[in-house]
Amino acid sequence: MSILSRRSFRSLTFPILVAGASLVLAGCGFDSPRSTMSSAATESAQSYSLFQGLFWLAMVVFVVVEGALLFIVYRFRRRPGQGIPVQLHGNQTIELAWTIAPAVIVAIIAIFTFRTQALLSREARDPIKVTVIGHQWWWEFQYPDYKFTTANEVHIPAGRDVLFSLRSADVIHSFHLPRLVDTTDLIPGRENRVLVHANSDTRGLIAGQCQEFCGGTHAMMTMHAVVEDQATFDTWIQQQQTVAGVPAGITQAASKTTTAAESSTSQPPLGVPSASPKQGATTAATVAATANAAPAAALAGSPEAKGYQLFSAKGCIGCHAIGGYPNAVAKIGPNLTHVGGRSHIVSGWLDNTSANMQTWLRDPNAVKPENVMGKAIKRGTLNEDDINALTAYLESLK
Ligand code: CUA
Repeated sequence: MSILSRRSFRSLTFPILVAGASLVLAGCGFDSPRSTMSSAATESAQSYSLFQGLFWLAMVVFVVVEGALLFIVYRFRRRPGQGIPVQLHGNQTIELAWTIAPAVIVAIIAIFTFRTQALLSREARDPIKVTVIGHQWWWEFQYPDYKFTTANEVHIPAGRDVLFSLRSADVIHSFHLPRLVDTTDLIPGRENRVLVHANSDTRGLIAGQCQEFCGGTHAMMTMHAVVEDQATFDTWIQQQQTVAGVPAGITQAASKTTTAAESSTSQPPLGVPSASPKQGATTAATVAATANAAPAAALAGSPEAKGYQLFSAKGCIGCHAIGGYPNAVAKIGPNLTHVGGRSHIVSGWLDNTSANMQTWLRDPNAVKPENVMGKAIKRGTLNEDDINALTAYLESLK
């Protein structure tokens, strides 16, 4: 490197540092979708309040220690003609001070931490109960009191206690809705509980994410909480309890029709996973074989009606439950009873649009590598007509 270019590189150092720092600090937005700092519930406010207290306490320690350091370095700097300064060996007062001061600070931190823990583990008052089951890589939400199951989008009323019971179907996941509550793990064979009381003025979608590395597509194991007023929540509950509609032109087969409750609620006993990834893969493979072997039935009617028939003919029924659809009770993939009414698909990863649904059905692995559905459906498994028909049917499931 020539002297000139070295010089010009040096003159760029400061702007580069400033640009780098701006980029890094831009990630600390107070109102980013997953920021604990824009609290929307009692629990996240309590955690944030503890964080703020500890942050300012740490700032005081930082300023005092660094200030003293800089002052001493300057005040006792070496001066011309000065000999070796007085040498000290041991000073009881100073040693006592720097032992007692940190001990007092740690005790203060402990007191405030225990206080916050006590506040967070209070008894729930007349809560809405939601069982959360983590799967590789999506979220199952069961409402045991209302007997239905949904996936990846959990509706909760504002201004009311919601008690989440956390379980896992396979490996350790972690429930992370930072604007509502701190992170808690979902551990196989165990039940953890988390209480959330969303502020009475909180409304809308709140982003969440699995927070424990749980395999290949952990990063895409996202979810949303939908916080709404009690009346809207009640309407949503009633609607979820209904079974899915049947497209015009379809005559219900004589086989057993499932109800919303049957397609959804049975909880896996603790320690007994509802479906291990291996089982899921095996079933998915069986389903794929069945789908390929199925005779090309002449499908008639509207795209929704064709999609309805393809849901069974192409083997989707082997993994997904739909309340109201004959024999659709599988729990390997998300329950799709009202999938058309969700804001997102693919575990909160994509907006629920026709184009995204088609992209997903065309080649699931290209969207979300390693997922169970990608074992059964490769690019080309479904032709464009199948994809359009299935999309139309799934969208009709409001
Ligand atoms: Cu589930 Cu990471």
